[in-house]
Amino acid sequence: MSLSYKTAGESHGPELVSIIEGIPAGLSVSARDIDRDLARRQLGHGRGGRMKIEKDQVIISSGVRNGLTLGSPVGLRIVNADWRNWTEVMAVEADGKDATAEPVTVPRPGHADLPGIQKFGFRDMRNVLERASARETASRVAVGALARKLLAEFTVQVFSHVVRIGEAGAAVTPGMTAEDLSAADESPVRCLDRGAADDMVREIDRARENGESLGGVFEVVALGLVPGLGSSASGPERLGGRIGGALMSIPAIKGAEIGDGFQLARRPGSQAHDEIFFDPDRGYYRRTNRAGGLEGGMTNGEILLARACMKPIPTLTRPLRSIDINSGAGVPAHKERSDVCAVPAAAVVGEAMVAIELARVMLEKFGGDSLDDMRVSFNAYRERLEASWPRP
Ligand SMILES: Cc1cc2nc3c(=O)[nH]c(=O)nc-3n(C[C@H](O)[C@H](O)[C@H](O)COP(=O)(O)O)c2cc1C
Repeated sequence: MSLSYKTAGESHGPELVSIIEGIPAGLSVSARDIDRDLARRQLGHGRGGRMKIEKDQVIISSGVRNGLTLGSPVGLRIVNADWRNWTEVMAVEADGKDATAEPVTVPRPGHADLPGIQKFGFRDMRNVLERASARETASRVAVGALARKLLAEFTVQVFSHVVRIGEAGAAVTPGMTAEDLSAADESPVRCLDRGAADDMVREIDRARENGESLGGVFEVVALGLVPGLGSSASGPERLGGRIGGALMSIPAIKGAEIGDGFQLARRPGSQAHDEIFFDPDRGYYRRTNRAGGLEGGMTNGEILLARACMKPIPTLTRPLRSIDINSGAGVPAHKERSDVCAVPAAAVVGEAMVAIELARVMLEKFGGDSLDDMRVSFNAYRERLEASWPRP
């Protein structure tokens, strides 16, 4: 079975729920592992007041016994602490009160509000924005934490770091060891270039003072992948498209690239690819990684590098012009408590999305109902790879 998941839950509803299928039996899982990533998603300079209210903690409600997965669906719940402030507006039962007495009628440019009410036939944008809110990404980070646990069994680790916020861009190319990359968590903007990180913090403060918001770019890095994950056999199996799609499914992500991505368009072929070398101890290897670890829709055994661009947050304290859907009057867009910049948090969501996709391709290739079955298949594959190396 392949890995699949569903999430449910409104931003100010009682809780977020996810169900994950396809995690093999025997994987060690604890709420602590998941909470660590949930906390990382909540950090970052530029977040709004909501993150002060929430301290996300997962409740594992099924699929795990005595710290090990059972091979059955894993259920995860994250209670919304803010729900207590929204019990009337977001009431599940009608209870004779009109929860929609104060509808949101002015859509925000750049948000799901206007297309959403048209699609579903609502007159209150809250019915759309509650689910379109990136609060949902807390669920994805929780699912991603399970995927990472699975990947870690096969020495795969996924990291992220921020390379741009507004006009402030990182100039230093970071080291690519687990130790180098994990240092991103120590930066208030998850940037590995300290000078640029200071500039980013200043940019965010300036944006806040001006009632503005900011976007940026983050990079996701996966270490320890074997070659041959994904496939060139058919379009939907190509891993580049799957990772690009996974990153672009994150709210506000407007572009994704693998390796040197868009820069490759400007280079001649001799400067665009990674020459192939061989070492009897190491196997095949490259001295450059312009392909970002993917060739032909498959991992090539090098470090996986994917980058995503996030647009500025659409909710502004100095709102853009919009139209009241009842009166037709031109008025400033709806204001909702909001982040000024969420690129550092989006990077953590990006890690989760890439981890889920990598866990999927690992399960497709090595499968198995239990972790032990999967390990047998994985080890056999690695032995086959080594046995196929040139023996001059
Ligand atoms: C981690 C994260 C936090 C976000 N926080 C906010 C926010 O506080 N306010 C807001 O208007 N949009 C926020 N967004 C962006 C919106 O969710 C997104 O722009 C909106 O759902 C519309 O989708 P689109 O930008 O993909 O068109 C956030 C996105 C992410 C990934």
